[in-house]
Amino acid sequence: MNNFSFYSPTKFVFGTDSESRCGYLVKEFGGTKVLIVYGGGSVVRSGLMDKIKLSLAAAGVHFSELGGIVPNPKDDKVYEGIDLCRKEGVDFLLALGGGSAIDTAKAIAAGVPYGSDFWDFYSGKAIIQKALPVATVLTIAAAGSEGSGDTVITRTDGNLKRGAGSDLLRPVFSILNPQLTATLPAYQTACGAADIMAHVFERYFTNTKDVEITDRLCEAVLLTMINEVPKVMKNPDDYQARANIMWAGMVAHNNSVGVGRSHDWNSHGIEHELSAMYDCAHGAGLAVIMPAWMAYVMKHDVMRFAQAAVRVWGCEMDFGNPERTAMEGITRFKNFLHSIGLPVSFGELGAKEEDIPLMVQSFGIGEGKTGGFVALGKDDIDAIYRLAL
Ligand code: NZQ
Ligand code: ZN
Repeated sequence: MNNFSFYSPTKFVFGTDSESRCGYLVKEFGGTKVLIVYGGGSVVRSGLMDKIKLSLAAAGVHFSELGGIVPNPKDDKVYEGIDLCRKEGVDFLLALGGGSAIDTAKAIAAGVPYGSDFWDFYSGKAIIQKALPVATVLTIAAAGSEGSGDTVITRTDGNLKRGAGSDLLRPVFSILNPQLTATLPAYQTACGAADIMAHVFERYFTNTKDVEITDRLCEAVLLTMINEVPKVMKNPDDYQARANIMWAGMVAHNNSVGVGRSHDWNSHGIEHELSAMYDCAHGAGLAVIMPAWMAYVMKHDVMRFAQAAVRVWGCEMDFGNPERTAMEGITRFKNFLHSIGLPVSFGELGAKEEDIPLMVQSFGIGEGKTGGFVALGKDDIDAIYRLAL
């Protein structure tokens, strides 16, 4: 296991009606003027917005609103939010929704105290050294942004989907009421599940040895997803299954299952080109890319893939031919994704073969290589897209 430092300061408030504590939590963390950031209106239709406003008002906290954040959020709303915060003296960001609202709130939080263009954090030109506090009321188990220090934004000019990160962006509190996820369409629930599983797999496939504790934690999260997701597909109101999935989504990405080991985020990077190009859900893109990436890199460490096949997918170990076991695990993963209604190929996603060169170019590694498990160059990225056709 590698040395590590792990800082996860978020206060999680979990369970039924937990959102009614929002106002007092904002006060506890020093917020006096809040910007509520939300998406296309699901939080208004569900009644969550009214509850939050009541709770803020009861705590004597003032607020403004920034709605209309789209999935795969764009930079225009970040600029708008930064201006609004400066004009109105906002000192606290409150995101209602999923990764898109949360990531926009995080970008605004970092952008307000920064003297230049917030995109510098996403282009790698600057690192985040200051940010307003961010908190979340989560309505979808997926991106894990409620516990992570990461934010992903798309720059409209050039269609660049890029991430930035800092412990300063970890939410000061996150409210997780599983009931709030019951209104999700089945497809969106499934997309979230694929994202959660990808967050674990990106950490599971590692070159670091002797990481038994995090291997086992990863496997626990994956087994939970395999058990619980089909339950909510059958019965969207299954509170206990929703609760297990919601916490799994947080655990999968606040890095408690990833400390002390190398990761490989190439599947995410390769996917981000798909969601930038076609505006598909991030989880749907991952369902197409992850199995292809796995099949492509499997030979690098067949025994690790065979371990996942046996421990996670219940395959029988073929000691004479571990490659067969490893491949069977990947096939079972793909079948699982398909069984919950996700696309697993370019065709099913609506992606086009002729766009592959553009996506490879936009991936932006030139002649270099990237990846913590298997370093990939542009020809490898091209081959993975083609495997996913
Ligand atoms: O916009 P509204 O009307 O709220 O509808 C949303 C949106 O259409 C809807 N929704 C959310 N909760 C709902 C609901 N509909 C009904 N009932 C509810 N309870 O779901 C749609 C998707 O929302 P979004 O916030 O986009 O979903 P998600 O949480 O999957 O976030 C995706 C974004 O997060 C990024 C992705 O790349 C993508 O841009 N990621 C962020 C990460 C991070 N910050 O740590 C890591 C991830 O790997 C990921 O890259
Ligand atoms: Zn993700």
